[in-house]
Amino acid sequence: LVAGVDTSTQSCKIVVRDAETGALVRSGSAKHPDGTEIHPDHWWDAFREAAREAGGLDDVAAIAVGGQQHGMVALDADGRVIRDALLWNDTRSAPAAEDLIHELGDGDRTTGAQRWADVTGSVLVASLTITKLRWLRDAEPDNAARVAAVALPHDWLSWRIAGYGPADSSPLGPDLDALCTDRSDASGTGYYDAQASDGGTTGAYRRDLLRLGLGRDDVALPRVLAPSEPGGVAHPSIAGGAVDGGALIGPGTGDNAGAALGLGMQPGDIAISLGTSGVVSAVAPRRTADGSGAINGFADATGNALMLAVTLNAARVLDAARSVLGASFDELSDLALAAPAGSDGLVLVPYLEGERTPNRPDATGTLHGVRLATSTREHLARAYVEGMLCGLADGLDALRAQDVPVERVLLIGGAAQSPAVQEVATQVFGLPISVPEPGEYVADGAARQAAWVLATAGSPGAGAPEWSAAVARTLDADPRPVVREQYAAVRDLV
Ligand code: XUL
Repeated sequence: LVAGVDTSTQSCKIVVRDAETGALVRSGSAKHPDGTEIHPDHWWDAFREAAREAGGLDDVAAIAVGGQQHGMVALDADGRVIRDALLWNDTRSAPAAEDLIHELGDGDRTTGAQRWADVTGSVLVASLTITKLRWLRDAEPDNAARVAAVALPHDWLSWRIAGYGPADSSPLGPDLDALCTDRSDASGTGYYDAQASDGGTTGAYRRDLLRLGLGRDDVALPRVLAPSEPGGVAHPSIAGGAVDGGALIGPGTGDNAGAALGLGMQPGDIAISLGTSGVVSAVAPRRTADGSGAINGFADATGNALMLAVTLNAARVLDAARSVLGASFDELSDLALAAPAGSDGLVLVPYLEGERTPNRPDATGTLHGVRLATSTREHLARAYVEGMLCGLADGLDALRAQDVPVERVLLIGGAAQSPAVQEVATQVFGLPISVPEPGEYVADGAARQAAWVLATAGSPGAGAPEWSAAVARTLDADPRPVVREQYAAVRDLV
């Protein structure tokens, strides 16, 4: 058996799967406080609770952790967390991101943005770890001076599973050199080059950039492992206690790369995730360097690149529509399907609280084309669904502009279960749509990685096991260019 863990912004989820067939054997989950900053001990407590709910992890032979990306976990020399972790969704470091872009560009923003993209794959935004370190340097210099190691959420949890941590609360104590990570999560820090010279298996940290952010670079960073390389063994009191030799710990992965692995994405597949935020992602052989900042060129969990655009306005656009219309999830879908494609010219540009792609942090939403004839519940429902999907279609275009092959869309996330969203997606994206069975794709991807690590330990060079999420529904493309044309015209007025 193998275990896959998803330590996310809200909760910890664990799946235990058969290492050969991938069949789900047991699972557990536990919520923890969310928000934009949190003490990592909550992740540890949620992990322990989810493991109990999953019937314990004594019998797993390998474990891997996928997790929310970018969060800054700053540790002191005793392995203690210095301050609450600042998460990917914490925007206080937005001015720091701008400062760093200008500094790398010798005062010129465009040059700086392109240089960040060239070296790290991404133009800095407040999500990336390095901007949080710059914020710490300036706002909390005493804390910054105590930093002995910087980890990400998934690295920290893997380290705790291996038995490391502060001396009074872990069996093995604070060995900071035992921290490990993987290429995908390292590529979201802003101080790592996944394509550095060693053939692209592990890449290299850019300590010059770390110094630019934190003001010093004499800190431990997690060792970056190759995609199926073990990072040690789990402490027997935590996992694998009943297994000879203990449970191997995989490199782990950032959540988006974990989901790609769990879904079994192939080149040409685009995953469009409709969660709180929207993520448009694709696996590609190499990353490109998009100086516009629309596309992050992260690494994936297999040795390829994960090209990804994040929008801030996805499922919550539908939540807003439900609140305006007093409609349930199903009623909203029925209403939207009762109006014609294009909603007779009623157009929503859904930047309800600003937008990240395109980069318009201060924008608000716009409803255009309100007439007597379009003042119906049906038209409004349709305009919200179309607007949300048109916002994501802009992310898809940004991927196409980077020459990423686009053949079909895998629609995932809670809002993907809406029949209206599925049907409108075939019209707005103009591509065939597959809706996978709902699942814990990140935890599943981590489990698949754990199985891969186990297979590689037995037979060096083994490939990842051939698991992928089952598809529940497929829909043919039904392009309706008018929807996006109307949308583009209004968006460009905003
Ligand atoms: C990716 C990003 C989010 C987090 C969410 O850049 O910021 O997808 O990883 O967990």
